[in-house]
Amino acid sequence: MAKIGVMGCGAVSDFGHVPAILQTEGLELVSLYDPNRDRVEGMAAKFGGIRAYTNQDEFIRSGLDAVLIASPPTVHRENVLAAAAAGLHVLCEKPIAMNDHEAAEMIDAMKKADRMLLVGFVYRFSPVALQIREWIKEGLIGEVRSLRLIYIWDLHGQYEPVSPEEWIESPRWKGRMLEGGPMVDCGVHQIDLSRWWLHDEIERFECHGAWVADYEAPDHVYLHMDHVRGAHTMVEMGFSYGHTSREPRPEFSYHIIGTGGVIRYDRDGYILETRNGGGTFRSPGASEKNFPGMHAEFAQALRTGDPGHLPRAEDGLIATRIARQATDMAIANRLRNTALTHTA
Ligand SMILES: NC(=O)c1ccc[n+]([C@@H]2O[C@H](COP(=O)([O-])OP(=O)(O)OC[C@H]3O[C@@H](n4cnc5c(N)ncnc54)[C@H](O)[C@@H]3O)[C@@H](O)[C@H]2O)c1
Repeated sequence: MAKIGVMGCGAVSDFGHVPAILQTEGLELVSLYDPNRDRVEGMAAKFGGIRAYTNQDEFIRSGLDAVLIASPPTVHRENVLAAAAAGLHVLCEKPIAMNDHEAAEMIDAMKKADRMLLVGFVYRFSPVALQIREWIKEGLIGEVRSLRLIYIWDLHGQYEPVSPEEWIESPRWKGRMLEGGPMVDCGVHQIDLSRWWLHDEIERFECHGAWVADYEAPDHVYLHMDHVRGAHTMVEMGFSYGHTSREPRPEFSYHIIGTGGVIRYDRDGYILETRNGGGTFRSPGASEKNFPGMHAEFAQALRTGDPGHLPRAEDGLIATRIARQATDMAIANRLRNTALTHTA
């Protein structure tokens, strides 16, 4: 039984990681760490029987084999370096780091400690993503030429009420925009899926943005990526699709076009189907995420030393690097286009 500690007791630990770890055979959730006492004690009380720490050093020495890191990306480096120094395996939330330099330092420290550094791209473990990978591998739609991966939503709204009269900008919305915006926060999943589904690297990319809100990063982003073997992936990500609406309606879909058919996933109604010369084949749809599936793989990785489908740190680095460079490119394109407009 691998003894696990969780670093960061916020939203994703609460709805995703902690319930999943608690139900995973082979994992024992021993301790929680969060510098915010209310958060860590609240979570320990909610799930019961787990030790709570607000001091990182004491947490790290609480008899662990591995840690799950679900703190803000700005402190992933600090958390990973502490785990490496104590010889603990790590499963770290995305985006792995704030920049390439930090990620390289984290990878190096974990290599020196001879421990696994894995990244929590939880979309890989959805039955939908696994089925699509199988269909592509079996050649059900021939050779894949185009992927269109879309997630446009409101990130739970840009504003929230603090009283019936007063609304403030949501710290979550603001924080995600300051950390790089939708491509860095969410798009990394789709960038990773395209590489994983196709077994193919990304050779070059181009990116454009739209600014509905007033941040440096675009809140709606279009990323175009060419893969080495010729396929093209378009990722569209947005946080301002209904961000001020009373009833927002998100859109989450995958469209994959091959030389012999198409695959479509629509989260609305959980439709997952392939259409080719043989007809239409449906598979049970599901959510795009699967925390229990990811933690089952983590338990196996800790038992065998083989990460299986779990993304390696290098996968996290590649996806984060593309997302950040693409966002910078969109910002540069905006500035260049503004300059052109002014000269014309
Ligand atoms: N894959 C997904 O579905 C998914 C969904 C949401 C968030 N995330 C990722 O998970 C991470 C956390 O996101 P969240 O929404 O839970 O954020 P959150 O703000 O709700 O929670 C983060 C928690 O980390 C704590 N924290 C701050 N500094 C810390 C430190 N030095 N060490 C440990 N903990 C610290 C905070 O007090 C807070 O409780 C981010 O990297 C985010 O991108 C992933």
